[in-house]
Amino acid sequence: MAGIVTFDELGPVGLVCIDNPPVNALSHSVRLGLVDAITRAETSPGIKALLIMSSGELFSAGAEITEFDHPPVDPTLQQVQATIESSPIPVVAAIHGLALGGGLELAMACHYRLAHKNAKLSMPEITLGIIPGAGGTQRLPRLIGARAALDMILSGTPVSALDAKANGLVDEVAEGDLRDTALSFCERLLHDGLGPRPTCNHAFVGGLDDAEIAATLLSHARALKGRTTQNLAVEAIKASKLPFAQGIAIEAALAQKSLASRESLALRHLFFSERDAGKLAGLSSAKTKQTQPPAIRRVAIIGAGTMGTGISMAFADAGLEVLIKDNDPAALTRSREIVQSTYASSVRRDRITQSVADERIRRIRSTIDLAAVADADLVIEAVFEDMELKKKILLKLDSLLPPERLIATNTSTLSVTELAGATAHPERILGLHFFVPAHASKLLEVVRTDHTSPESLSTAIRVAKLLKKNAVLSRDAFGFIGNRMMLDGYFREAEQLLLEGATPAQVDTALENFGFAMGPQRVSDLGGNDVGTKARIQLFKRESRPNPYFVIADRLTEMGRLGQKTGRGFYRYEHGSQEALPDAEVIDLIEELALDRDIRRREIKNEEIVERCILSLINAGAMVLEEGIAARAADIDVVWTSGYGFPRYLGGPMFYADTLGVSHVLERIRDYHEKLGHYWRPAGLIEQLAAAGSSFEQWDRTAASRY
Ligand code: COA
Repeated sequence: MAGIVTFDELGPVGLVCIDNPPVNALSHSVRLGLVDAITRAETSPGIKALLIMSSGELFSAGAEITEFDHPPVDPTLQQVQATIESSPIPVVAAIHGLALGGGLELAMACHYRLAHKNAKLSMPEITLGIIPGAGGTQRLPRLIGARAALDMILSGTPVSALDAKANGLVDEVAEGDLRDTALSFCERLLHDGLGPRPTCNHAFVGGLDDAEIAATLLSHARALKGRTTQNLAVEAIKASKLPFAQGIAIEAALAQKSLASRESLALRHLFFSERDAGKLAGLSSAKTKQTQPPAIRRVAIIGAGTMGTGISMAFADAGLEVLIKDNDPAALTRSREIVQSTYASSVRRDRITQSVADERIRRIRSTIDLAAVADADLVIEAVFEDMELKKKILLKLDSLLPPERLIATNTSTLSVTELAGATAHPERILGLHFFVPAHASKLLEVVRTDHTSPESLSTAIRVAKLLKKNAVLSRDAFGFIGNRMMLDGYFREAEQLLLEGATPAQVDTALENFGFAMGPQRVSDLGGNDVGTKARIQLFKRESRPNPYFVIADRLTEMGRLGQKTGRGFYRYEHGSQEALPDAEVIDLIEELALDRDIRRREIKNEEIVERCILSLINAGAMVLEEGIAARAADIDVVWTSGYGFPRYLGGPMFYADTLGVSHVLERIRDYHEKLGHYWRPAGLIEQLAAAGSSFEQWDRTAASRY
């Protein structure tokens, strides 16, 4: 680990530099290196001030998250901070890029702080279900005030260097070279005779009464729905008005409690799963880097419908040049109008500035000439779901583009294998399954066929990274990962429960209370019942499978009750409103359909709704795994939390199954199998794991050998 923290004497200033790629996490070796460097500085008679900086892209991403699963090893970050705060010479932190969590806590323990003008500072611990545990809840209030500190800790979002200067978090913002500015700052300190200024000795800034706490919690209520970490953060911040040593002890106990919480285990599971989802044995990013894959700068999209337009914005947002092609000039005009109105709305909501919007709109050009896409680095076909039309387009693209360029099809229902087979280079064809709205959804399913080359997969994963989306690899199969589990599990069960006696509002509310962003019937009404019906027809045709399950949704489509867009669906909607109002006509319809099927309606408890919907989702997920459609249970968790509204703090359906215990899951599924019949057959994988006393997490450990 030599060189992970370096120490140089620059005249009277000792420069400590953290060099722990990729993100300068404050691992045990870094902490050892820091203590060592500080000791050296203090024992070097010529050193009068200490400057802590980092190399690479960012100051520090904070604590080494993998260490959270183990007992702390000395020196802890708190011990490093105590060494800094008690140092007899002034210690200055100079921040560039990002200072996150423990990284910012390290800087806050320094006596002075500088930040480059482009730097961002944040306390993102809440996104991992933990509270800052290295003095963040005690020093931040002393620097910026208790209410601002609570707000920053609950939001987890970064503040800019300029805002940090304004609120007292940093002392100076460097416009030019950070190292030069920081060295001059240190010299000024020495010249002015300014010595150590431990943050722990700062007077407590401002109180925090119950009304202010309630108001701050309320302002984050939506993001923190179903969560509990915020309560621990409040307790810790409240303790910051106590003497520092007392406050820090309370923080330590609360931080430990947060680390052990189920919420934190779930969120940390997702942190690593999201990063691992795009990784495949033999397909590491290192390999990708070695082979120097071509850069992706220009993207062409075929088809200017809803998906094509959304995808064009996703790429424009990521800074790429986009060419959108459609035969129909009117479709291109409509697409442009949607792009303009979407960006205008982002400007109105202060999400982006007008100049950023203008730049993004400028990046999207349009054409009616297919040949114009020939110089694109990547082409995505996004015309409507018609096998013959898509085949024709892919064939043309295959002849237009050099064979090493990636061609993707955006389909959610058709066989990518069949589409790829229509071209001369099936190895460079894969599916990119975007989710509506394509520019905002975090999920991208990358669909591989048996012919897709590793290079094509690597490129697709890089594309997802450019778009800041979570890429999950799926084999080409009915519904890929997410829709398969939705149709064969979750949504199917929700419809069944309606026939047996529940109402749409009851099903939706029960699942929203469980933690889903939106219940299944509200989702159907939002997306359009006709869209669901069409997709199911295509999908079930693909498999030649009967589809006896979606009788209500399909009947609503027949009746023209397409959802929000027609003002009626599973619910009714007042003109211009998205509020889902119960509709007696729908209940009558459900009763009639139940009668036709000899289903005797009964009162159904909310617990049964949740249990059946979630267990059927888990069961379908296990089938997706045993059939090799998804490589890892953790991939399924990423799909469902980033694309289908499953609550992140429960870690995803398969993590949740482990929380319940696979044996318990099996027992409950068997019970429903007995009561409800064949479609509740337990997945073989669940039986296998339960018999072995194992879990999905353990099964994942052997994933590399399977895929
Ligand atoms: N501890 C350990 N590993 C970390 C880490 C941390 N605090 N932060 C990031 N990493 C790892 C990632 O797991 C990833 O590893 P991999 O390449 O083996 O998959 C690698 O660093 C790069 O991270 P990634 O997120 O893929 O890169 P990015 O450039 O998109 O984002 C960050 C970088 C720092 C913005 C992002 O990783 C992040 O937000 N990290 C978490 C910060 C945090 O919550 N800190 C609080 C802890 S106190």
